[in-house]
Amino acid sequence: MIFVTGGAGFIGSNFVLDWLAQSIETVVNFDKLTYAGNLNNLASISDDPRHIFVQGDINDTALLSQLFEQYKPRAVVHFAAESHVDRSIHNPGAFVTTNVNGTFSLLEAARAYWNTLSGAERESFRFLHVSTDEVYGSLGADDAPFSETTPYAPNSPYSASKAASDHLVRSYHHTYGFPTLTTNCSNNYGGFHFPEKLIPLIISNARDGKALPIYGDGQQIRDWLYVGDHCTAIRRVLEAGRVGEVYNVGGWNEKANLEVVHTLCDILDKLTPKAAGSYRDQITYVQDRPGHDRRYAIDARKIERELGWKPAETFESGIAKTVQWYLDNQEWVRNVQSGDYQNWLEKNYASRDSKEGV
Ligand code: NAD
Ligand code: TYD
Repeated sequence: MIFVTGGAGFIGSNFVLDWLAQSIETVVNFDKLTYAGNLNNLASISDDPRHIFVQGDINDTALLSQLFEQYKPRAVVHFAAESHVDRSIHNPGAFVTTNVNGTFSLLEAARAYWNTLSGAERESFRFLHVSTDEVYGSLGADDAPFSETTPYAPNSPYSASKAASDHLVRSYHHTYGFPTLTTNCSNNYGGFHFPEKLIPLIISNARDGKALPIYGDGQQIRDWLYVGDHCTAIRRVLEAGRVGEVYNVGGWNEKANLEVVHTLCDILDKLTPKAAGSYRDQITYVQDRPGHDRRYAIDARKIERELGWKPAETFESGIAKTVQWYLDNQEWVRNVQSGDYQNWLEKNYASRDSKEGV
């Protein structure tokens, strides 16, 4: 079986659902269920005996050790993290606690377990660390995309904490020979994405008749990858990635934020038109994010060359599926719009002066 951390979050739950659809292997899903963890994401497998959910914190090394001993996984796939840049600006401590200390605790428990293995079990064990392209910092308009050898230059408490966790993972391979794999992926989008992040926030605010907040001039560029393609990439790296290596994962889809928001408005205008006007009329420019990275772009040639992986979705096909998913799953959105979510909206957006017409 495999041991997944953070499997009730956005990417982790997509991964667990995908895994059980493709494989007969059991998944132990270990998740703290923070505001971002949601068991509703896993409702469709609630009766599947191959899914074993355990609520817990990756800082709990003793519990992790007990579970490794009990379930004897052949691999750990580590998604659990605090993942939202804006929250890291308001509360950086939580990011150090989970992303740095938590990854350290998980590495320690996994290494101790791996040390008890021998022969083929020890040979084939893998620890796959899921990370982000944000560790590489910000690109200028004409810079080459991030490759696996681009120096780290994290700019937010989120990306700094992920960079620290990547370094710990690297050091465990280098020092102990611990069989790690690291993936650094660009911005994901798709179903089960918590509506604090740009794409699901815009879709739900548009539908609710609320402002569509654009930070700064909206010309910041992100590379976007459909979440299903990220899951395929992780499965492929787990299956055939070279131990100790890093693989950058991206969609070859660089888009400015404003272009993404325009695309979402145009799709919604077609699928669920307003009584009058366009969803674009709800766009509002607000104060920029402090330290806002200007451009991310991923050179994903290594994973294609070595492992034959490339994305199946274009941005156009993936974004159309995603909007449809949110229209079909409005109950899911209503359920996550909890007390904590309302507090977050108040905290993040009330402090940003509206900058109409910038
Ligand atoms: P998410 O915030 O949606 O989910 C995180 C999950 O981790 C939640 O289920 C939460 O309950 C759990 N968690 C948080 N702290 C925990 C702890 N201390 N112990 C156990 N579980 C804990 O995040 P996501 O967007 O699904 O991202 C998953 C991983 O992928 C993260 O490591 C993130 O850095 C990385 N990543 C995300 C993106 C993206 O676009 N979302 C892109 C590249 C890489
Ligand atoms: P986000 O989804 O938070 O991902 P990340 O910061 O990890 O890239 O944001 C994506 C981009 O959208 C980022 O440049 C910030 C911008 N953004 C807005 O313009 N308005 C918003 O309300 C949010 C949440 C993000």
